[in-house]
Amino acid sequence: MLGYFLEMKNITKKFSGNAVLKKINLFVYRGEVHALVGENGAGKSTLMKILAGVYQPDSGEIFIDGKQAVILNPRQAQDLGISMIFQDISLFPELTVAENIFLQREPLKKTRLLRLIDWQKVYQDTQKYLEYLGLTLTPQTLVKTLTIAEQKFVEIIKALSQKSRIIIMDEPTTALTEREIDMLFKVIRDVKKLGVTVIFISHRLEEVRRIADSLTILRDGEVVETSSAKNLEIDHIIKMMAGKEMEDRYPKLRVKIGKEVLKVENLGYNDRIKNICFSLKSGEILGITGLSGAGRRTLAKTLFGICRPFEGKIFINDRLYRSITPDLAIKNGLCYLTGIGARESLILKMNIPENITLTNLSRVSEKGFLIRTEELRIAKDFIKRLEIKAEERETAQNLSGGNQKKLLFAKWLFANAKIMIIEEPTSGIDISSKVDIYNIINELLRSGVAIILISSDLSELIGMCDRILVMYNGEIRKEFSRSEATQEKILFYASGGEYAIKKHNQS
Ligand SMILES: Nc1ncnc2c1ncn2[C@@H]1O[C@H](COP(=O)(O)OP(=O)(O)O)[C@@H](O)[C@H]1O
Ligand SMILES: [Mg+2]
Repeated sequence: MLGYFLEMKNITKKFSGNAVLKKINLFVYRGEVHALVGENGAGKSTLMKILAGVYQPDSGEIFIDGKQAVILNPRQAQDLGISMIFQDISLFPELTVAENIFLQREPLKKTRLLRLIDWQKVYQDTQKYLEYLGLTLTPQTLVKTLTIAEQKFVEIIKALSQKSRIIIMDEPTTALTEREIDMLFKVIRDVKKLGVTVIFISHRLEEVRRIADSLTILRDGEVVETSSAKNLEIDHIIKMMAGKEMEDRYPKLRVKIGKEVLKVENLGYNDRIKNICFSLKSGEILGITGLSGAGRRTLAKTLFGICRPFEGKIFINDRLYRSITPDLAIKNGLCYLTGIGARESLILKMNIPENITLTNLSRVSEKGFLIRTEELRIAKDFIKRLEIKAEERETAQNLSGGNQKKLLFAKWLFANAKIMIIEEPTSGIDISSKVDIYNIINELLRSGVAIILISSDLSELIGMCDRILVMYNGEIRKEFSRSEATQEKILFYASGGEYAIKKHNQS
C-alpha cells in the first residue's frame, strides 16, 4: 500500500493537568476500517474529538493525504471531509430525518434574489440514501420517533451526504441488536468500496474481528499496539487493553435455586406484548432477548408498573396482582435497572452517598433526620464491594460510564431488591468493568435475588443466564436452557424463525 491517508503524530492532551493522551501516533490507510480499541477512559473518544475539531491537542500534528491539516473547529474538520458519529446521539429530536441530515447546509435554489432552500432536493436526496441503506423511514419522519439504531443510520447518512472521506464511529453498536449491527456492517463495507476511511471505536472485539482491517489499541492514553486485524487474537487484545490476564469473561456462578418469586400468565399490554408466560426463581438468571421492537423493554416496563393496565396475571411471591404501579413494585422488592443509560437513572448533581440512599432513606435516618455519617459509611462500603473507582463524595456526573452503572447497582442493592430486572447492564462499558458487573450480579444471586437479564449481547446471555427467552413481535417464541443456547439458534427465533418459514411455506 502507498503511504498513510491519515497520520496523527505525537498527539498530547491534558484535561486540567491530567494527561489523557500521551504522544499518540495513529496511522490509517485510505479506505480501510481501522478499529480503535481500549478500555473506558483509555482516550479513544478524546483522540477522535481532536480529529473532528471538537478539542485542540496541546501538541502534535495531523496529516491528511500527506498534507498538514489545520483543524481548529468542527467546521474545518467537515471541510476536510471528516465526520464523527458521536457516542451519544446528537440529532435534533423535533426535526425530521431530512432536516437533520441537511441542517445548516441545505441545498439552495438558484434564484438571484432570494436564498431559498430547495426542499424538494433535500427530500429527494434523503429518500435516495434511505433506500440505499434499505431503511423504511421517510424523509419526513420526526427523529424523536426513531429507534436508536435508526438514529445512528440517520447520522451515517448525514456523514455520507457530506461526502466525507473519513467517518469516525464512536461505539456505534452499543444500543444495536445483532441484526442492526449486520446492517451497519453492510453499510461500512459499502462506504469502504467508495474509498471512505472508517475509524471504528468498539469494546466488542468480536465485532472488531468481523469488520476491521487493522486496529490500534490504546491503554491509559498511550498506543500499546497497532496491527493488522488478520489473525486477530481476542485474548491477546484483551490482555493488551487491560494490561492483565482476564481468564474468564463470564464468571457464571451456580447458586442453589430457591423458590418461585415471580410468575406471569398470559401477560399482555396494548398489543405490544402478548400471552407472555414464564416463572422466575430466586438464585436464577433468566435472560430475555429479541431484536429491537420485539417487546423486551415493554415487558420490563409492564412488570414494573410503568406500562399499565396490563392483561393477564402477575404473581409476586405467590400473591396475585391484577394491577401494578412502580411504588407497589418497589414495595414488593422489584427493581428495574433500565438500559437507557445510567446517566438518566441517577441524579447526576448528587454525590455517591446521596444517590445510593435515595430509594431507602429511612434506613439512614433516625427520627426523621438523615444521618450523614451513616450514609457515608454505607457509601464507602459499596465503593469497596463494587470496586467503584471514585472518591467517596464524587458527584455522579463525574463518574465514568462503568462506575455509574455500578453506582446504580449499589442503589438497588441498598433498596433491598429481591427481583431485579436488569437491562443491557454492560452496554458501552469496557471489558474489565463488564467482569466487575457480572461479579456484582453474582453477589446478588448469592444473596438470594432473582434476576431477569434483558440483553442484546448474545454471548453475555449465553455466558451468564440459566434460561433464555427469545421474543419476537411481542411474544415469547422460544425458551432455551443454558446448555441448548447458541447464538445462531437465538438469532433464528429472534428474527421470526419458524414463523417466517411457516408463512413462506404457506404462500
Ligand atoms: N471534557 C473532559 N474534561 C475532563 N476530562 C475528560 C474530558 N473528556 C474526557 N476526559 C477524561 O479523559 C480520559 C479519556 O476519556 P475518553 O477519551 O472519553 O476515553 P474513552 O473514549 O477511551 O472511554 C478519561 O479519564 C476521561 O475522564
Ligand atoms: Mg469513549
